[in-house]
Amino acid sequence: MLRSKAFVKRTRKGNVVKVVKEHYLRDDITCSSAACNACEQQSLPILSANPRKSELTDRPHYIIPDTNVFMNQLDIMEHPSIKDVIVLQTVREELRHLSLAVYNRLNAILADKNRRFYLFANEHHRDTFLEKLKDETPNDRNDRAIRVGTQWYANHLKESGILTIMLSDDRANREKAASMGVKSQSVRDYVRGMKDVPELLDMLAAPKSETTETDKIVFEEHLSPAHIANGMKKGTLIQGSLNVSQHNVLEATIVGNVDGEPKTIYILGRKNMNRSIQGDIVAVELLPRDQWKKSTSIAVEDEEDEEKMHGEMDTVMTEANAMDKDEVGEPTGKVVGLIRKRWRPYCGFIVKNSVHSSEGSTAAERVIFRALDRRIPPIKIKTTQAHSLLGNRIVVSIDSWPVNSVHPMGHFVKTLGSSGDKETETEVLLLEHDVPYQEFSKRVLDDLPAEGDDWVVTEKHLTTENRRDLRHLNICSIDPPGCTDIDDALHVRPLENGNYEIGVHIADVTYFVKPGQAMDTEAANRGTTVYLVDKRIDMLPALLGTNLCSLRSNVERLAFSCIWELTKDAEIVKVDFTKSVIRSKHSFTYDEAQSRIDDERMQDDVTKGIRILNELAKKLRKKRIERGALTLSSPEVRFNLENDSQDPVDVEMKELKETNALVEEFMLLANISVAQKIFSHFPMSALLRKHGAPPVNNFDTLRKALGEVGITLNVESSKALADSLDAAVLPNDAYFNKLVRIMTTRCMMQAQYFCSGTESEAEFRHYGLATPIYTHFTSPIRRYSDVIVHRLLQASIDPDVAYGQELTDKTKMKELCDVLNHRHRMAQMAGRSSVELYTNMFFKNKTLVEEGRVIRILKNGFVVLVPRFGIESIVYTSKGPDEPSVFIYDEEKNALIAGDVIIKMFDTVKVEIKVEGDETGMRQKMRMSLVYPQVPGLEPSDQSSKKRKAQETKNGSQNTKRQAKAKIAA
Ligand SMILES: *[C@@H]1O[C@H](CO)[C@@H](O)[C@H](O)[C@H]1NC(C)=O
Ligand SMILES: *[C@@H]1O[C@H](CO)[C@@H](O)[C@H](O)[C@H]1NC(C)=O
Ligand SMILES: *[C@@H]1O[C@H](CO)[C@@H](O)[C@H](O)[C@H]1NC(C)=O
Ligand SMILES: [Zn+2]
Repeated sequence: MLRSKAFVKRTRKGNVVKVVKEHYLRDDITCSSAACNACEQQSLPILSANPRKSELTDRPHYIIPDTNVFMNQLDIMEHPSIKDVIVLQTVREELRHLSLAVYNRLNAILADKNRRFYLFANEHHRDTFLEKLKDETPNDRNDRAIRVGTQWYANHLKESGILTIMLSDDRANREKAASMGVKSQSVRDYVRGMKDVPELLDMLAAPKSETTETDKIVFEEHLSPAHIANGMKKGTLIQGSLNVSQHNVLEATIVGNVDGEPKTIYILGRKNMNRSIQGDIVAVELLPRDQWKKSTSIAVEDEEDEEKMHGEMDTVMTEANAMDKDEVGEPTGKVVGLIRKRWRPYCGFIVKNSVHSSEGSTAAERVIFRALDRRIPPIKIKTTQAHSLLGNRIVVSIDSWPVNSVHPMGHFVKTLGSSGDKETETEVLLLEHDVPYQEFSKRVLDDLPAEGDDWVVTEKHLTTENRRDLRHLNICSIDPPGCTDIDDALHVRPLENGNYEIGVHIADVTYFVKPGQAMDTEAANRGTTVYLVDKRIDMLPALLGTNLCSLRSNVERLAFSCIWELTKDAEIVKVDFTKSVIRSKHSFTYDEAQSRIDDERMQDDVTKGIRILNELAKKLRKKRIERGALTLSSPEVRFNLENDSQDPVDVEMKELKETNALVEEFMLLANISVAQKIFSHFPMSALLRKHGAPPVNNFDTLRKALGEVGITLNVESSKALADSLDAAVLPNDAYFNKLVRIMTTRCMMQAQYFCSGTESEAEFRHYGLATPIYTHFTSPIRRYSDVIVHRLLQASIDPDVAYGQELTDKTKMKELCDVLNHRHRMAQMAGRSSVELYTNMFFKNKTLVEEGRVIRILKNGFVVLVPRFGIESIVYTSKGPDEPSVFIYDEEKNALIAGDVIIKMFDTVKVEIKVEGDETGMRQKMRMSLVYPQVPGLEPSDQSSKKRKAQETKNGSQNTKRQAKAKIAA
């Protein structure tokens, strides 16, 4: 049945055209209920014949949620206990326009067979389609369509005894339903009836306004979007992403334009943050210049300290301002509007002392939830299970932040497990870093070769794709011990003209992963394999990663080869790329390869080859360093894990072997050669990797501190920097140079993927590697960037290969780069968090005194790096947050002074290291306290005499303050 509607429309040129909108209505759409005898069920019905019974009527029922239920209570709809749900097409369409994220999550539920969610095409059903009435808003029309849909189901299933209930939190809509004889319920009433799943009550979204605090106006309403847009246009408002400091949760920054230049703008205190949360895109208004920030950062990491610090920070600011009226501070502003919220579900815990009910109570109460990400403010949630949640890691979502509430309001989503438990904490860090860690779905696994582990290279592979047979070459791989995903292998062969042929062979992942496959989409979304201390979250299914693509020894494998002719001096004569079949002769560990090089008795071809490669690598490296490549450093450590429990039993510093550098050198060369090739072929859409030169002022603090010890850091170019890093040595301080390199690393920019068509060629430069162009080609098993680069390279060398638009679409490529940069960063941070987790486990029940180096001075503490464990932490200069600092801060010298003791950058100190829970007992935290130099009033672990000490400290600190002031004056 066709319903068409014709109307006239005036075009821009003034012509009148007739537009016909066609809408097909059908009478063969089924209800999909297994209890229905009326419909001719064509396929398997989705809705159960025995759905859940309603507590109110004691009859089984289906539910039909309205659009807002999905918008606001999605966590509940996603709960596995919610089943037999009819999703109206009207509702799904509305969601598609309102929020793509919600729409996608709804589709995921619809796709899950266990959930029994049925999409009913009510807009195409003859009995449920509605025309919009005159004077009816689209919203009202849709609400009516939902009521009519529910009514249809109720009538249709009358004989079966199954009720259909409309779920809506809109009272007016429910009243209208009642007047039509349609049953409806609010979500709250509905889940209250589900007594067997009490946690659902906790998952209700919080109401939009906090009724218990109505008398207390805390914040003001934000500016309207129109107002913000106007302010932006006039230049009175600045847009930016709120970035809360890790060291001080009361200090945030945005980067925005001030007087036409991008500047860091400070936002100090929760009042000025004005209900915005970490990551939100905010509109900021600058404060008058006399209120700009002039003082150095202080550290505030506990919300408990916040109130006090709040006060202190205000005094600090006025003090500083009073001292020097003329000094111009850093641009400082306040948030006046939210442009885009970036709220997400947060992992964290319930604050114990916010629970006031008695144990066993099931009454709902408001408690405070703290996210593990300390930049997130405390969130108020309502729960009936407070006591059973204590001690657990839970997930909470924010619903709103009413103007009259000190805290944002949220709801419980789920429990992850008990805190401190290794599995739970690992899941937490994966969630917190947005790492997709679910098992690969069946759809993804279906894209793997049907032969599974029995897949082998056949004749067919040699005759297609212009693949070259390189099985005869002495190819080998060199990797860390235990490496199972080998994506690269090498060979060298002397040529008759005295030059060498060198080959880098990379796993041919794109032979298996084709554009558009579910496996490809999944890998693109994962972006990278994530390495944790005790496990790996793969980007590709293990069959590929550790077997079919892995270039193991003595099996034939498909590869993508980059083959150069190099002179004895490691100059490139030519380069060639080809798909190939190889058979690696040996998989070495770095150690094994090194001992082959060193052992003169070994004279076989493979060993001789490694020696040649090693010599050439050294020459390549030398050239690179002459061009200005940097050798940076990180304080990374390795854990030795106990075999069974996987608990950390020892920690050691990572060390690099010469052979490690050997492989790296050829990988760099391959990446550079491939970058040149794909850029020449795809100038507008090559996926490349750049590393911007760091802004010179990033080095200000470090340069100043180095100046104090007589060392000049020249940051004019990477070459100058590399040279001055080489010269940054102190007699009798072997670690100093490494320390400076670690600190230099932290002044660097992040390297980034980008699309060649979006930047000028001058921007392509990779600062750290000192190369004008670079990309990632060598690790396609564990990086999706390399998968794309393989496709680009193949399209560049083989004119016959058909490729899709995704390789030439600049916009798409840029979007992909954004995703990859995000995933890459998150993977790094997840890795670091995993190390932190193991460090905390390692230090549990231990108290160690270790030597450390001061790497940052704060107003109320300093940051110490302990090389032996690669850990760092703040050492506070007071006993507790409410006690005065024993030191005074000398801004001029960037030093902390207490009597004769001066703490400044690079100083060697001894610290006591301990891991303890914080006051609420839920966050594992590493604590360092100063042991040497000894400072009265700062001795660690003297709980018993804390009070008395504090008193002494107070007096003492005043004295030292005076002394130090005198010193500065002198
Ligand atoms: C946030 O600020 C920190 C320094 O406080 C900086 O290292 C980081 O890159 C910033 N993050 C973003 C997303 O701008
Ligand atoms: C919060 O934003 C409102 C609306 O722009 C503004 O009037 C108010 O001053 C802001 N509050 C603070 C403390 O900055
Ligand atoms: C730490 O000590 C507590 C009690 O003293 C004990 O229950 C726990 O198992 C110990 N943890 C480790 C990791 O040794
Ligand atoms: Zn039916």
